[in-house]
Amino acid sequence: MNPARHEAHDNGAALVAQAVARLRTGGVVAFPTETVYGLGADAESAAGVAAIYRIKGRPRGHPLIVHVPDRASAAYWADLDARATALIEAFWPGPLTLVLARRPGVARFACGNESTIGLRCPSHPVAHRLLVAFVAAGGHGVAAPSANRFGRVSPTRVAHVFDDLGDDAPLVLEGGESEHGVESTIVDLSREEAALLRPGSISAAQVEAVLGVALRPPDAQVPRVSGTLAAHYATATALELITPSRLAARVHECLARGERLAVWSRISPEEPVSCWEPAAGEPLTYARQLYATLRRLDALRVDRILVEEPPAEPAWVAVRDRLGRAQAGAEARG
Ligand code: TXA
Ligand code: MG
Repeated sequence: MNPARHEAHDNGAALVAQAVARLRTGGVVAFPTETVYGLGADAESAAGVAAIYRIKGRPRGHPLIVHVPDRASAAYWADLDARATALIEAFWPGPLTLVLARRPGVARFACGNESTIGLRCPSHPVAHRLLVAFVAAGGHGVAAPSANRFGRVSPTRVAHVFDDLGDDAPLVLEGGESEHGVESTIVDLSREEAALLRPGSISAAQVEAVLGVALRPPDAQVPRVSGTLAAHYATATALELITPSRLAARVHECLARGERLAVWSRISPEEPVSCWEPAAGEPLTYARQLYATLRRLDALRVDRILVEEPPAEPAWVAVRDRLGRAQAGAEARG
């Protein structure tokens, strides 16, 4: 974490108190996390959770992640077995969500129709301050999906939240640029075999090293996870992932058809395009820039965005996953 980046955006105690008061009365608040900005409501408030689904336009059956300030708050919602405890000790606070069997009797407004609950303890100082104050005021967790409309690119800066939600934007806490830039890794511990539901900046190998077993890929039984729909994180502009060796030829083809192109690649195309965006050669930097870049290229209103496919290596799994869904989403939109 780069503290300097966050200190510049100090949300005073008064604003946090105001945010807590909103949450406690069934309102909605947007807040920064180290992955993406979240759109939060009291996980125990039917009205608050309903407002999230309405603002996002998200299907009701898709469960939300409940954010907590610490392990004790997580234990309110679910029994933390040895596997959960080991992962919490290794990675919380941080970009790891655990799906666990929900404790009987706790609120299930945020959990879709699942008997499980997704729990995450973010490391961003503003998120942490908000959650600590929320629990001190009697709450137990803040349900928060990414603060974008359903299916669209997640917000990693406060301006993205306003761009996306417009007049529906709630009280927004400022927190600079999200450090990781892709949503949390989701690990399902609700069944005997641990499974990876969504790749993120904490890698499968890091999780496996702590658990001492291999993670199962998600299968058909796994509950619906919006972030794993084939078409998600989409731009309005057509978007294509192109292997490095095919990029020059594809640029040529599209230009020959008279298309206006934006190209995101490590090396500038030889032919002149409307916009060339240099791509980072390092996965963490690339991830941090991913959604802001997709938004910027989308706003150009060119005919097509060509993205040079990042290397097929483990360090690039989360980025490749999101780009693949963005491509599918743009295709689905036609
Ligand atoms: O990094 C993140 O996780 C961000 C920030 C705001 O914390 N949140 C986020 O939320 O990405 P959202 O709602 O966009 O994605 C949460 C994913 C969804 O795809 C949801 O279906 C899944 O987590 N999820 C939540 N609870 C679940 C459960 N009980 N079982 C299976 N999947 C669950
Ligand atoms: Mg999302």
